[in-house]
Amino acid sequence: MRAADRVSPFLDLESAPFTLPGSRILVFRDAGLPDALTVRLAEYERDLDDCVLVRTLRVLDGDGRAVAVSAVHPDRISFGPDVTLTFDGPSALSVGGDGVWTVEVDLPSGDSPVALASADGAVRITSTGVARGAAHADALAATSRIWEDWFARTPAVRADLADMTAFCWWVLGANIVSLPGRGARAVVPSKIGYVGLWQWDAYFIASGLRHGDPDLAREQLELAFGYAGADGQLPDVVHDEGILASSDDLPPGDRDNLRRAGSAIADPTAPIPLTKPPLAAWALRRLEGYVDDPAFFDSAWEAVARSQDWWFTHSDLDGDGMPEYGHPYSSGLDDSPVFDAELPVASPDLAAYLILQDDLLAGRARAVGDADGATRHTARASRTLALLEAMWDESAGYFRSYGAGAPVDAETAVSLLPLLTGRLPGRYVAGILAALDDPTRFATPWSVPTVARREPDYSDERMWRGPVWVNVNALLAEGLAVSGQPERSRALIEETLRLVMHGGGPHEYYNPSTGGKPPRATTAFGWSAALFVDLAVQVSA
Ligand code: GLC
Repeated sequence: MRAADRVSPFLDLESAPFTLPGSRILVFRDAGLPDALTVRLAEYERDLDDCVLVRTLRVLDGDGRAVAVSAVHPDRISFGPDVTLTFDGPSALSVGGDGVWTVEVDLPSGDSPVALASADGAVRITSTGVARGAAHADALAATSRIWEDWFARTPAVRADLADMTAFCWWVLGANIVSLPGRGARAVVPSKIGYVGLWQWDAYFIASGLRHGDPDLAREQLELAFGYAGADGQLPDVVHDEGILASSDDLPPGDRDNLRRAGSAIADPTAPIPLTKPPLAAWALRRLEGYVDDPAFFDSAWEAVARSQDWWFTHSDLDGDGMPEYGHPYSSGLDDSPVFDAELPVASPDLAAYLILQDDLLAGRARAVGDADGATRHTARASRTLALLEAMWDESAGYFRSYGAGAPVDAETAVSLLPLLTGRLPGRYVAGILAALDDPTRFATPWSVPTVARREPDYSDERMWRGPVWVNVNALLAEGLAVSGQPERSRALIEETLRLVMHGGGPHEYYNPSTGGKPPRATTAFGWSAALFVDLAVQVSA
């Protein structure tokens, strides 16, 4: 079956809007008016409701009756048998077809809808208005070609995973935007909610892209690493208007949310750096063997090494040798109960990432003949490992986080992530396996929850306060594999693939009790799609 045909059933124009790689235009079903569509633009940190290109669009038949949408394909929306809507380049839509019809377009700027009839040819819709289009058939052919080229790259997987892999591959193509002035294509987390290049999203997204489009995977890391500060700090986000690298750069909406949540860091007295977890080396290593570009690797490893040093020189805020998260956003787990504590937070996930990253940097140093560098990174990894081991709380049976030096009273997925180092002494591995097997902790019907089930703060639906995330599962699966648990790793990968299929697509996060999509979770989410592809390829080998 063609990939495009596998994808069509997923294109409901609600959770998956009609769009084109490189375009900001999103076409949804209109919630109010039957048989009408609505068109919005994807912009950084702007609500879709504030970015309306077309309030409603309808196709009317010769008698003035609305024609229902009869099919949605990646390259076209069909109205009845004759009329289609497609893209005419990234900034325009085109409507055309045989027979007698009228397109009725209600623009936010106009008082009454504009109606253009078939007798006068195709209709072209852009942000400047509605006009006569030239050749609808050409627009249709060009749009089909773009999607065919994209689908030709769909990675091959096991038969039971093929439909969802095709859809996830569509999601990655659909989430491509061009960032003006950045000279590269960004695959954003979601055109519906997150329009920019988020640092650690880029790592996971590149992991999936490498299987079908290694150049695009490389571009994600070039963008992610290309805007480091003079001190080596990597920004949290690279977006249209600049970067998000400090609390001073926070968009007003974000700040309002923090204020509403009563957060002490909504209005900090001094700017707090914002970044994402140190998994840059993890991501870069995953492109080795896929991307053949030594110059890229040279400069990327350099950026990674500088960012790793940044954590130790600028984010070890209490000077005890173990860096902390200065802001929840830097952890990627923004709403986790771990951050209900006072900042800064020393956390076992951060320790694990830093150990892994120093180990990978040591490997790279050895590969390029830098023996001193290798020794330095290995020594620092060993020191961090000793400090991580000291975070184990024997009576609680898990690795604890510390907020401003005080133990945080919440068992969350961060306590499991030390597996990723692959060098935990056996008794800690046994402790983590026991937590994973315990139904009152992490053995939920759909696992792995991001907060232990028995915690008073546990929620099935609140972001990072219980729901399952595909990236956490993927990291844990890798952690199990490198900690002597290959069978458990494989089982977790299979369960994660089943979860995405059961949940109906690559959502932002999933309910651990039902496996469904919590109401506020974004759909067509980049890293869930990319890691589905990555894990599917892994189990299909
Ligand atoms: C949310 C997540 C964060 C992610 C971002 C973009 O803020 O908490 O981890 O990077 O969305 O997807």
